[in-house]
Amino acid sequence: MAALSLHSKPLLLQFMLLIIAFILGTRLHAADDPSLTLDYYASICPTVLETVKKQMECAVLSDPRNAAAVLRLHFHDCFVQGCDGSVLLDDTITLQGEKKASPNVNSLKGFEIIDKIKNEVESDCPGIVSCADILTIAARDAVLLVGGPYWDVPLGRKDSKTASFALANTNIPTPDGGLLSIISKFLYQGLSVTDTVALAGAHTIGVARCANFRARIYGDFEATSGQDPLSESTYLSSLKSICPPTRGAADNNISAMDYVTPNLFDNSFYQILLRGEGLLNSDQEMYSSVLGIQTRELVKKYAADPVAFFQQFSDSMVKMGNIANLDSFVTGEVRKNCRFVNT
Ligand code: HEM
Repeated sequence: MAALSLHSKPLLLQFMLLIIAFILGTRLHAADDPSLTLDYYASICPTVLETVKKQMECAVLSDPRNAAAVLRLHFHDCFVQGCDGSVLLDDTITLQGEKKASPNVNSLKGFEIIDKIKNEVESDCPGIVSCADILTIAARDAVLLVGGPYWDVPLGRKDSKTASFALANTNIPTPDGGLLSIISKFLYQGLSVTDTVALAGAHTIGVARCANFRARIYGDFEATSGQDPLSESTYLSSLKSICPPTRGAADNNISAMDYVTPNLFDNSFYQILLRGEGLLNSDQEMYSSVLGIQTRELVKKYAADPVAFFQQFSDSMVKMGNIANLDSFVTGEVRKNCRFVNT
């Protein structure tokens, strides 16, 4: 098994980033937000959990990819200013949203699903349930509907009146960023290495675009998967036929990140990493990087033990969902329309 190289940053810089992020991470973000409660809407909007569930059932039944889209939306929300619905805001003359930031543009989906749920919830309980809470509940239901674990969702978030295009570009990990850079972005949010490996297991569902896996399949895929370069696997050759080596029209062609069970939330994603066949560089590095001593053991654990994966994924999702936007507690609101700040 060849070890992956780190891509963009010198090693020393990556270590420094990791230390800085750890120090900042433990100070800046309370990953266990004490102001959220499980029964927040029990008396003020008792129907909300049922409404979200029903709408998510329809969405996932019509296309299982919708589960992946909503789960990723929640992740991209929480990593920018905390889980405050900022990712849902559209660009206006006075506000630059996050939708056109590079990890999101032409890539994030599922906004209409959240709009639809919000409409239903507003007609039952006007002005009560935040978009950030709706997205958090919807992400939990998404996972459950495609076979993943259930967890209770702490509630009571407020929606932000701001978004951050800049933070969306810097805080969200990229597939070619290198293992330490990815870990440092999770530590910065108050999430551990264990949380990082467990949450990356979300890639057991959903797809990636050619632009995000080209470097991998024309790079060290053969090395990590122990392929004989003369007899390419059917999997690798099918990936190459979807994704030619040069940039162009095929950039948006897609492939499942878990080619074994693409629409099922299970632990086969980790088994794929053990075979060295991860689609994204960032995923494979958790197992194959020389620096991934701890991550490699976690990948092996989750590949062998689906119950341990489900348990840790649930715990880590609660932790990620509790990343707070402290400003929003004071200045936040319950948006009427998730795309716009209230007027
Ligand atoms: C560990 C660092 C991570 C990196 C580098 C990363 C990167 C990516 C990339 C590049 C894609 C494909 C996007 C595209 O090609 O348009 C993707 C898809 C996805 N990611 Fe991640 N991701 C990470 C962690 C997470 C986490 C923590 C979650 C949720 C808990 C998540 C959920 C998803 C889902 C569900 C998809 C599929 C979306 C769809 O099919 O529409 N990812 N991710």
